[in-house]
Amino acid sequence: MRWHEVWVSISTCCSAHSVVALNPSNYRLTVAPMMDWTDRHCRFFHRLIVPSALLYTEMITTGAILHGDLHRLLDFDQAEHPVALQIGGSEPADLAQAARIGASWGYDEINLNCGCPSERVQKGAFGACLMREPDLVADGVKAMQDAVTIPVTVKHRIGVDDQDDYGFVRDFVGKLYSVGCRVFIVHARSAILKGLSPKENREIPPLRMSVVRQLKRDFPDAVIVANGGIHTVDESLELLSPSKEGPLPAADGVMLGRAAYHDPWVLREIAGALGHTNLPSTRESILPALQDYFESQLAQGVSAKHMTRHWHGLFHGQPGARLWRREICEGKMGPLALFEALSAGFGQSPAQRSEQSPGPLPA
Ligand SMILES: Cc1cc2nc3c(=O)[nH]c(=O)nc-3n(C[C@H](O)[C@H](O)[C@H](O)COP(=O)(O)O)c2cc1C
Repeated sequence: MRWHEVWVSISTCCSAHSVVALNPSNYRLTVAPMMDWTDRHCRFFHRLIVPSALLYTEMITTGAILHGDLHRLLDFDQAEHPVALQIGGSEPADLAQAARIGASWGYDEINLNCGCPSERVQKGAFGACLMREPDLVADGVKAMQDAVTIPVTVKHRIGVDDQDDYGFVRDFVGKLYSVGCRVFIVHARSAILKGLSPKENREIPPLRMSVVRQLKRDFPDAVIVANGGIHTVDESLELLSPSKEGPLPAADGVMLGRAAYHDPWVLREIAGALGHTNLPSTRESILPALQDYFESQLAQGVSAKHMTRHWHGLFHGQPGARLWRREICEGKMGPLALFEALSAGFGQSPAQRSEQSPGPLPA
C-alpha cells in the first residue's frame, strides 16, 4: 500500500472531506509569497510578464484580516488572477473566518503558511513551528475547507530543527492529505527555529529536492510544488520532467521567489519553455501597460516609489540595466517615460555606459 492510500484509509475512519477539483497544470509555474515584496504592485508587474502563472500574496495574518483595514490588505487588480491569498495563523476558527473573507474578496486559493521561521511568527505559534502540530494544522485546513469552495493549500518546509528525517515531513503531508488537502508547496529546506534569521533560513539549511521527489512518489495524485533555489529554465524543466528513476517528475510545479523578484524576465523564459501562450515578446513591450497602471494608481493617491521599487529587475543583465535600476527606484518617472528618457543608454556597450551619467532627466 502506498503512503497516500494509507492516509486515505486512516482518514475514512475519521471524517470525510470533499476534495476541491484541481487542475495541476495551474501550478506548473508559480511566484512565491514574499513579505514586503509580492504586494499588489509587484504582482501586477509579474502578471504582465507571465499572463497565467499563479501568484501569491505576502503572508497576511488572521489577526490582520479579522481586525485590519481590509481594503488596504486585500484589494488587488483583477488582472492579477489567478492569485492566491497566503494566510498566517493557527486557530481553526480564525483561519476559517479569514479564508471566508479572502474568498469573498475574490482570491482564487487560500494558502496556509507552515514555513516561516521568524521569531515573531513563532511567538504567534504559526509558520514553520506548525509542522510540529499536524493535528492542529489539519483542523485548520478542515475549517478553511468547510468555509470556502476554492482550494485550500499549504506551504511548508521539509523539517524543523532536528526533526528533519523524511518520515517527519511525510507524516505531516499525509495528515493533511487525509483531510483533503491536495496541494503542497514544499520549500526544500528545514527551518531552524533557534539561531538563524529568516534570511539565513533561506540560505543556510541545505536544499534537499530529493525529499520533494519522494513526496511526489508517495502522494502521486497530490500536486507537489518544488520551491527553493530555482533560478533557471533548465532547473525548472529538470524538476518538471520524468527522471531516470521513474515516470513521475520530481514535482508538478515550480515556485520561484528571489529569482523572480530580482530577474523577473526569467518567468517569461520558463513560461515560454512550458508552452504558455500570450507571452510578451520583449521586456519593453510591457511598458505601455505598466505606465497606464502607474498613472492610474498615482491618480488614486499611491506613492510612485511604492510601485517602482518592485520594477528594478526588469532589465536585469541587459545593457542599461544599472541606469534603469537606479532611476526607476527613485520613482521620479513612470516606467515608459523613463525607458524613453534612458533609451540612449540601452543597447550600448558596458564601456560606453560607464562613461555616461544618466544626465538630467525630464522633470
Ligand atoms: C523577502 C522575502 C519574504 C518572504 N516572505 C514569505 C512569506 O510571507 N510567506 C512565505 O511562505 N514565504 C516567504 N518567503 C519565502 C519564499 O516564499 C520562498 O519560500 C523562499 O524564498 C525560497 O524560494 P527562493 O529560493 O525561490 O527564493 C519570503 C522570502 C523572501 C526573500
